[in-house]
Amino acid sequence: MVARRDRAHYESPDTGGIVDTATARTGPAIGTNPELIEVRLTAIRYAARDTHLYEFRRPDGAQLPAAEPGAHVDLHLPNGIMRQYSLTAPEAAPTAYVIGIKRDPESRGGSKYMFDDMHVGRLIKISPPRNNFPLDLNAPHTVLVAGGIGITPIWAMAQQLKALGKPWELHYACRSRQDTAFLAELEQLSGPRFHFDEEAAGKFLDIKAIVASAPKGAHFYCCGPLPMLGAFEAATADLPPAQVHVEYFTAKDAPNLEGGFVVQLQRAGKEFVIPPGKSILEVLRDSGLNVPYSCEEGICGACETSVISGTPDHRDSVLTDSERAASKTMMICCSGCKSDKLVLDI
Ligand code: FES
Repeated sequence: MVARRDRAHYESPDTGGIVDTATARTGPAIGTNPELIEVRLTAIRYAARDTHLYEFRRPDGAQLPAAEPGAHVDLHLPNGIMRQYSLTAPEAAPTAYVIGIKRDPESRGGSKYMFDDMHVGRLIKISPPRNNFPLDLNAPHTVLVAGGIGITPIWAMAQQLKALGKPWELHYACRSRQDTAFLAELEQLSGPRFHFDEEAAGKFLDIKAIVASAPKGAHFYCCGPLPMLGAFEAATADLPPAQVHVEYFTAKDAPNLEGGFVVQLQRAGKEFVIPPGKSILEVLRDSGLNVPYSCEEGICGACETSVISGTPDHRDSVLTDSERAASKTMMICCSGCKSDKLVLDI
């Protein structure tokens, strides 16, 4: 996961019940701020070189909200920043969440803080799980592709598919065995195929060949660094969009901060002119409005807002092509406007 995102991932030792997964994104209702949950960091475990697993529980040990495979939570770190990290295991009634974090040498404060300053026993606030990367359990076959720390949501999917006896395969690329999280657990399963760059004589994972050899009707999932996601999207470009699922940890498009349009908030009865250089989110926040957001890069889905009228210029990495075309919602942290006015359901 690239660099700036400090994205997390993990494996939970206590994978219990199986979550009834839907294929739509799930999380707090659009336009609402989720109630934050206080949790204690109860364990830090080594997963691979520069990769740790962090386990969180409620102070009173009570149950946490259900975790679907592919879901992530926001961590509100004591240093004032917020980061999204994928949950490593699906569970219908979890008492712990485990995330996996790789130390990012260019960290802006997420992974650096988690590695250098977080310690067991510390209390922090997290959001309930949000899922922009849902697993379709009705697929006749599932092909999972992961790169580096991108394994975390993919590992959660593999556990669920294995538990339900669904046909699946996993292709997992890493720099070396030392850098491979969940290696021991995955080697005990029959589905995973590994690709270690340092053992492959400079060859990258051949995603085109993986897609070409998959059974008809298979669904494809990919999480990893941007070059891998680009290769994956190219290899699956001719497939029906409903069969292709990607999770970005860095924005794929530049934000539209051109401004020069009006945003009307239908329920609040307010109107704002968006100036050049500012996002809709920034303008609303500056005015004192309490609007939900997290990543501010168009990748987490927290700021998704219903559109009543107007034509958004979508720049997020969450909505599918068909969702972009329908424009029923938009991410106000990064997307702009192609019409003179947007009316939003806020
Ligand atoms: S705040 Fe994350 S998509 Fe807008």
